[in-house]
Amino acid sequence: MTATASAAPAPVKEAPYFTETVLWVKHWTDRLFSFAITRPASFRFRSGEFVMIGLPPREDLGEKKPILRAYSIGSPSFAEELEFFSIKVPDGPLTSRLQLIQEGDEILLGKKPTGTLVLDAVRPGKRLFLFGTGTGLAPWLSVARDPDAYSRFERVIVCHGVREVKELAYRDLFTRDIFDDPLVGDEARAQLTYYPTVTREPFERQGRFTDLIENGKLFSDLGVEGGKFDPEHDRAMLCGSMAMIKDTAAILEAQGLKEGSNAEPGDFVIERAFVG
Ligand code: A2P
Repeated sequence: MTATASAAPAPVKEAPYFTETVLWVKHWTDRLFSFAITRPASFRFRSGEFVMIGLPPREDLGEKKPILRAYSIGSPSFAEELEFFSIKVPDGPLTSRLQLIQEGDEILLGKKPTGTLVLDAVRPGKRLFLFGTGTGLAPWLSVARDPDAYSRFERVIVCHGVREVKELAYRDLFTRDIFDDPLVGDEARAQLTYYPTVTREPFERQGRFTDLIENGKLFSDLGVEGGKFDPEHDRAMLCGSMAMIKDTAAILEAQGLKEGSNAEPGDFVIERAFVG
């Protein structure tokens, strides 16, 4: 026997990513789009988590490694497909190309979803406020379509803050389609409030979350008494720009809410919207 023949077979290196197929793509504006990919049978996640997404390297361009970015999964944990809501950055290494994907294309999907915007990281309460700016709405697409949100909270309030009206993606979902969802339609009708706000052009509601919280309008609009958060009953999740998270978290803390994590659930949890 030669040395080569007797050597143990080289260990088969497990691929770090799943290779999945694009099922659909929807362009909302020249800056925003959504898409869905197939879900591998072994891929498990909790509603609200994020995962790495990428494109296979283009060998014709001499690329060796894929470009990957973290994306919140917009589908609830039991969904058959995995949906994502993305910004288009013209010279962004990933999104400049990702925005061109079409049905049937290949997408790389990380194997380790994770994150803090999950129901398990907030303590029980009465009201769950989900604050998202821009593509920071993505995790609420997941959490608000999960029946657990409605069994744990009496009210679920999806707050979406954008600059322009056209950026209110998923308005039809939260004003119509979710009420026909076979799994959460009845609960959503009774317990879900969609609270969109626009900052840079006229709309039925205007202003940043931070201002709407501080001037009490958020609470009067929702018919919540007291004009501020109640640490006994109110829980919140924040996703969006770093500035929005920092400013909103400071207000929540000033009103007596404590930040939580997976290890130690609290009154609110935060995560930056990743690509942008
Ligand atoms: P504004 O138009 O007043 O800046 P962006 O596209 O920059 O991520 O912003 C999305 C939304 O988040 C906009 O409505 C923007 O309001 C709002 N926003 C930006 N920074 C903050 C902040 N520090 N606190 C609250 N809202 C913010």
